[in-house]
Amino acid sequence: MSEATKTATLTFDDKTFELPMHTPTAGPDVIDIRKLYAQAGVFTYDPGFTSTAACDSAITYIDGDAGVLLHRGYPIDQLAEKSHFLEVCYLLLYGELPTADQLEDFEHRVTQHTMIHEQMHNFFRGFRRDAHPMATMVGVVGAMSAFYHDSTDISDPWQREVASIRLIAKMPTIAAMAYKYSIGQPFVYPQNSLDYASNFLRMCFSVPAEDYVVNPILSRAMDRIFTLHADHEQNASTSTVRLASSSGANPFACIAAGIACLWGPAHGGANQAALEMLRQIGTPDRIPEFIARAKDKNDPFRLMGFGHRVYKNFDPRAKVMKKSADEVLELLGVENNPTLQVAKELEKVALEDSYFAEKKLYPNVDFYSGIILDAMGFPTAMFTPIFALARTVGWISQWKEQISDPQLKIGRPRQLYQGPTYRDYVDVENR
Ligand code: CMC
Repeated sequence: MSEATKTATLTFDDKTFELPMHTPTAGPDVIDIRKLYAQAGVFTYDPGFTSTAACDSAITYIDGDAGVLLHRGYPIDQLAEKSHFLEVCYLLLYGELPTADQLEDFEHRVTQHTMIHEQMHNFFRGFRRDAHPMATMVGVVGAMSAFYHDSTDISDPWQREVASIRLIAKMPTIAAMAYKYSIGQPFVYPQNSLDYASNFLRMCFSVPAEDYVVNPILSRAMDRIFTLHADHEQNASTSTVRLASSSGANPFACIAAGIACLWGPAHGGANQAALEMLRQIGTPDRIPEFIARAKDKNDPFRLMGFGHRVYKNFDPRAKVMKKSADEVLELLGVENNPTLQVAKELEKVALEDSYFAEKKLYPNVDFYSGIILDAMGFPTAMFTPIFALARTVGWISQWKEQISDPQLKIGRPRQLYQGPTYRDYVDVENR
């Protein structure tokens, strides 16, 4: 934590308190309230953490008003255009872009860990045959703690490093196996001569009965989707990983917690929900009906893939994703896909509507990612597992950063209690 640069004054009940303030390298100043309760006997109240910084971090920076997303300082559009997923993994994990030798070594280490323990196959077989791949992933990633005992001691930097590499390397294998299991096809072992994205596509789409050649256009699009989802600062799933980790839980348990949180439709589950919504709309003439429902306070329906807690101008990932969707669909010759037509028209109508403009609701990354994944042949149930696979490096980078922070404390929010005050127990016959 940096030295305080100035103070803020808090006055209530005729008492005044000076609170230290810190100035970040980018973003708004932060009022340090860590000693507030001890000094003033009050808590702050911020459900949903809309104004609360829960940690120091040097990994990812977002300026939601300007639509900026930087990883270690580098803008996401440049990374998506010029870099590739494993290089971005290195950047997130170690803080700098790798040299050619460092990248080769990192790719080699990840490639050496792509297989999972053969006994873990039994875990998959324990799930119902049509289990959602996210359900399977939560269980199997948590179960890694039972298989990789030599990388669960968080006080050992070497074990932390091995756990990190294992998770990045095995997540595509686990996600692809969860998919194969859900559709009743045999598992496909990783092929280490392939790059990360191509290997994942092959594990998802090849079958023993036929040869499978990875389409380089799809592989590049897949890699870009991974890159665009790699990290996103202190979002719900990352904060879940940090909170789980603050108790000293092992890395596999923490990442399983992150996967569970990501699944929700307000977070990573939005890509599945967005495509299902586009299909439900079906044809552009039905868009006004759904826009009206999204604006109706008495209807819980929301336009999935619209809005963001932080981005109030545009989601920079969505810009790249939209461009990628156009390219991929054109290259695949499916640019007249009816879902895409509905998506394009819905985006246009919503952006021109005063409700969405006033509330600063713009298409987010999930609005377009589902369209590309659908065109690639993925069923909607695989959209969120792909997000989880890609976000794993972000979770691990944030986890590693937190573990090495000497000021680490167990996360323990306070509350604004609204329940009954003290009362004596009443025996059942007297109630
Ligand atoms: N459709 C219609 N109205 C909306 C939408 C939407 N998608 N999103 C927000 N609103 C309205 C909401 O009803 C509220 O109106 P009012 O002020 O009149 O009560 C206002 O906008 C603010 O909404 P909020 O729920 O207080 O905002 P939030 O910052 O808590 O929620 C969000 C952000 C992303 C959860 C929300 O916009 C949403 O539910 N979007 C749809 C789900 C989605 O696409 N999620 C993916 C997020 S990007 C990927 C990721 O990070 O996982």
